[in-house]
Amino acid sequence: MKKLIFIRIMLVGYLTTAQNIKSPSNNISLDFLLFSNGKPTYSVNYKNKPVISRSNLGLLLKDGTDFTSGFIVEDTSIITFDEAWQPVLGEQTNIRNNYNQLTVHLIQKATLKKLNIIFKVYNEGVAFRYEFPKQANLNYFIISDEKSEFRLTDDHKAFWIPGDFDSNEYAYNETLLSAIDTEKIDLNNGIGVKSISGKYTVQSPLMMKSTNGIYLNIFEAAVVDYPVMHLELNKENYSFTSKLVPNAIGDKAYLQTPAVSPWRTIMISDDARDIVSSKMILNLNEPSKIDDTSWIKPMKYVGIWWEMHVGKATWDYAGSQNAQNTLDQLKPSGKHGATTENTKRYIDFAAQHGFDGVLVEGWNVGWEDWFGNWKENVFDFTTPYPDFDLKVVNDYAKSKGIKMIMHHETSGSVGNYERHLDRAMNLMKQYGYPAVKTGYVGKIIPRGEFHDGQTMVNHFNFVAQRMAENKLMVNSHESSRPTGYNRTYPNYIAAEAARGNEFNAWSNGNPPMHETILPFTRLLGGPMDYTPGIFEIKMNAYDTTKKEQVHTTLAKQLALYVTMYSPLQMAADLPENYEKHMDAFQFIKDVPADWQESIYLEAEPGDYLTVVRKDKHSEKWFLGAITDENARETEIKLDFLSPNKKYVAVIYEDGKDADWQKNPKSYRIKTLNITNKSKIKLHLAKGGGTAISFDPITN
Ligand code: NOJ
Ligand code: CA
Repeated sequence: MKKLIFIRIMLVGYLTTAQNIKSPSNNISLDFLLFSNGKPTYSVNYKNKPVISRSNLGLLLKDGTDFTSGFIVEDTSIITFDEAWQPVLGEQTNIRNNYNQLTVHLIQKATLKKLNIIFKVYNEGVAFRYEFPKQANLNYFIISDEKSEFRLTDDHKAFWIPGDFDSNEYAYNETLLSAIDTEKIDLNNGIGVKSISGKYTVQSPLMMKSTNGIYLNIFEAAVVDYPVMHLELNKENYSFTSKLVPNAIGDKAYLQTPAVSPWRTIMISDDARDIVSSKMILNLNEPSKIDDTSWIKPMKYVGIWWEMHVGKATWDYAGSQNAQNTLDQLKPSGKHGATTENTKRYIDFAAQHGFDGVLVEGWNVGWEDWFGNWKENVFDFTTPYPDFDLKVVNDYAKSKGIKMIMHHETSGSVGNYERHLDRAMNLMKQYGYPAVKTGYVGKIIPRGEFHDGQTMVNHFNFVAQRMAENKLMVNSHESSRPTGYNRTYPNYIAAEAARGNEFNAWSNGNPPMHETILPFTRLLGGPMDYTPGIFEIKMNAYDTTKKEQVHTTLAKQLALYVTMYSPLQMAADLPENYEKHMDAFQFIKDVPADWQESIYLEAEPGDYLTVVRKDKHSEKWFLGAITDENARETEIKLDFLSPNKKYVAVIYEDGKDADWQKNPKSYRIKTLNITNKSKIKLHLAKGGGTAISFDPITN
């Protein structure tokens, strides 16, 4: 991979207690200031207006070291960095990484311990991290608290989910900062794992819109060997302080010098499109550690999955009441989804419609007692149920050119999974599975650990590394949310780590605004396996007593393939439901999952998003436009298309009478001949969307 690096050293050895750096564009300006009592602080201006007022920095160590004051500045240095790099899979072929960096070398007068704070200022925001250099006075150490502060200037609007050490599968709340209160919201997160960490604690990425119209986002990047950071609000001054997720005995992080913290990030712009299109989080991660990446491929897949979520089939072979029985005593319930025959049906469907893969959940022994009982050795990840023939299924898939996707549900028993990991990967290699979906439903074993603690962060990263060594791709569910580590391990192709489409099958679901917020929050850290493409919107189609439904129109389900970037995309509904709408299904067949270029045309968190993307390997473009619970009319200029070319645009839009609640399946498909001078009017129903494919006409 070709890289362009330009580094300019501007200042070295400049001793001062105040230092300023600006973004390459000069719009963002960061001031570092060491108070006379040796307290390190920072503040940030955007276009000459304060967005972060003077905020404290520092940490507390378990040995009593107070790394929040008593420092003197030993040295500072500033560099400019400009690089272009090419992601293996992505929203665009080239990513520019351009920032100015200030490093402040601090030494504590009383202890002679050293701490560096590194600031990077990009055009779309600022980042800082703590660096613990190798030193005589600090070797092994335990972080008992991080005290990074983010002091906002007013009572801004925020899109927040409660701080929960175990789950990020929540619907967003849109309120003023002053109204944040985790005790006043519906905590229905469906899977019953709740470790709410405080009345005023929220998770990051935290998206905000300031009272004067500036978009702000607080997040973190490169969470490696460190716990996840949640944010605790002080309503008196609208300041958030970092709240690190503890381990089972209350400690936050165990480190040895030299070490670094993750980057703390604040994205800032008066144009919301700058936030959704920012590559700052990826840029703050280390380049790929995998030399040969030729085996890392985008995948579109179908699977034995939704039929369990809608209650048509079960994961277990014999029904969960049989938990105490041994395998030879189990009697098939007749509802088991992962049978050889059913898998062949999905393989046929995938092959017929040009998909790459088939996921099968519930293929292995253990689902009788998979979670809720804190049993340690539920799954061995290698023993299939009697009605699932690994060899027959894989031979059949190979004969049809289809790749099987492995499923490893751990039910939170992580020690058990690590003990079985090599055997589990050997089985994948033996049969030629290129990818695995992992799952961590339930409380974590080792007991007392949280999904978001340092131990689990290390586990998720370790699995990505071990899979990479074996040339296998990973898609994790119920992991901590990604923070750009897919730059370093591009085989970590997707994760769930937010409230996915599945919630629409069995809970109060995802409100229509949900998918307009995710690109401003969860997706900033990496691709999400959202599992779009549900055509049978209302669950009463399966059981007339059911009230659950997908909170979108059918056309919006199509648009999600473009608005929710992921190189791994599922067509999540049942083959029989697609067969009823083959004309609309065509869009899912056509849309790629890897891109040359992406342009966000319109964006407003909680309201709407319109994006166009160009296929990585052709001249085709695709558009996705979505709205919240409000209908929306808009006009799009097609000037992103190549001049002097004619295109056929196929428009998949909401029907005139479409409405996510009253008439979600109403859609229409139009075909137009257009050029880059054309404009297209979009009509989005309540909870609706539009998907368009632009195909150049070749003579
Ligand atoms: C939760 C995951 O998000 C879902 O996709 C999966 O089907 C179940 N766990 C079972 O593993
Ligand atoms: Ca989940």
